[in-house]
Amino acid sequence: MALTRGADQKARVLVASNRGPVSYTVGEDGSLTAKRGGGGLVSGLSAIGPDADALWVCSALSDGDREAVRRGEGEPGTRMLDVPADVHADAYNGIANSVLWFVHHMLYQTPLEPVFDAEFRRQWASYETYNRAFAEALAEEAAPGAAVLVQDYHLTLVPGMLRDLRPDLRISHFSHTPWAPPEYFRMLPRDIAGQVLRGMLGADRLGFLTRRWADAFTACCEQFAGGTGGTRIGVHGLGADGEFLRERAHRPDVADRMAGLREEIGAGRRTIVRVDRTELSKNIVRGLLAYEQLLVDHPEWHERVVHVAFAYPSRQDLAVYRDYTAEVQRTAERINERFGTPGWTPVVLHVKDDFARSLAAYRLADVALVNPIRDGMNLVAKEMPVLSEEGCVLVLSQEAGAFEELGEDALAVNPYDVVETARALHQALTMPAGERAERAKRLAAAATALPPAQWFLDQLNALTAQSS
Ligand code: G6P
Repeated sequence: MALTRGADQKARVLVASNRGPVSYTVGEDGSLTAKRGGGGLVSGLSAIGPDADALWVCSALSDGDREAVRRGEGEPGTRMLDVPADVHADAYNGIANSVLWFVHHMLYQTPLEPVFDAEFRRQWASYETYNRAFAEALAEEAAPGAAVLVQDYHLTLVPGMLRDLRPDLRISHFSHTPWAPPEYFRMLPRDIAGQVLRGMLGADRLGFLTRRWADAFTACCEQFAGGTGGTRIGVHGLGADGEFLRERAHRPDVADRMAGLREEIGAGRRTIVRVDRTELSKNIVRGLLAYEQLLVDHPEWHERVVHVAFAYPSRQDLAVYRDYTAEVQRTAERINERFGTPGWTPVVLHVKDDFARSLAAYRLADVALVNPIRDGMNLVAKEMPVLSEEGCVLVLSQEAGAFEELGEDALAVNPYDVVETARALHQALTMPAGERAERAKRLAAAATALPPAQWFLDQLNALTAQSS
């Protein structure tokens, strides 16, 4: 239920995403606590201001969220859908995270997976139910001719379903992930592949983070859906929010964390920093192996460098994510046992999410390591050059979306090649100060070219313009 508008008050701009801007927890005394999240969409949506009749439709993700919906509590301007927990688990963990995410990031170990069996079909039916719940809520809340901006792989069927319910609406869909090339996408059962593409093509306009992902989508449509029809396709490369980051990174809690980190690192040492969610596509283990190779190839770095790696838990309902997290920890421990000395811990690994400490690490970074297997954009690659005080060198995977914009001033690596990555780390650590500062300046400028508010407004304008 929309909490601030009357039943007859409809929204002119609607955003739909699985995860909303707020989450709730129930305390022991039964009270509800709300926690606001961050991210590009939150700051993007704030760009249209409070008077725009905007509504954010999202899913309840936890028992706390479901309780908030039932009690009719919630943030103004948001409507949380009380999707049954089992339907949500099938749609989110079963389909979105275990199938669509795997396809677009090309993560399957194909000798044994995927297996599209009867259980998959059952979960797919839940994905349809969950998408329909969004389409129906949006149809109910939207004013005539309103703009609806649907987000991501969780909601690929919504544009088509909503088009059938409300042909008057302007509908867009934005993919925050890569899109699979046709040779990989065709792994999906034929009817499901068709349903995904037709669902997306129900939109007037589709947005992607880079040209590469947009082209992959178009190629899939040409091969499996007879083309893109009348749907327009645009590229919007979400950038870092430089203004927010600079202000936030200079508050006292970040200074505290810097002092703590300096102590863990030890005086006078260089730092190689990475900050990720512990996500299968982030390639944290090979990053550690590359660092180990650096220590083997260049003993002169012993005692003189520290790899600061923050790997924050993600999607821990899935066993494959839990196993991956454990592998990251094991590898870091093994490296510390092999090379560590009483006064030097070669890898400082933290797994507990702490935003202030992440910003502190950005400020201290001499080298930023961003080596994903495949990544829609990777905002960390954009944020670190903005905040690093000495101007960090960016070691960047050629498979990150950010590579299209930052590749020229970064040191490029093939994410599977740990020998090359080790070499790039050495080159980064030895880069002359002048060159390093020049590159970092250009990286920071490119990284902040399209801040979240403008990124959002560009899409809204393109959607509501007669043609573009
Ligand atoms: C990453 C991706 C987004 C996605 C999000 C979901 O940030 O870039 O495309 O929407 O993960 O994360 P969640 O924690 O909600 O599964």
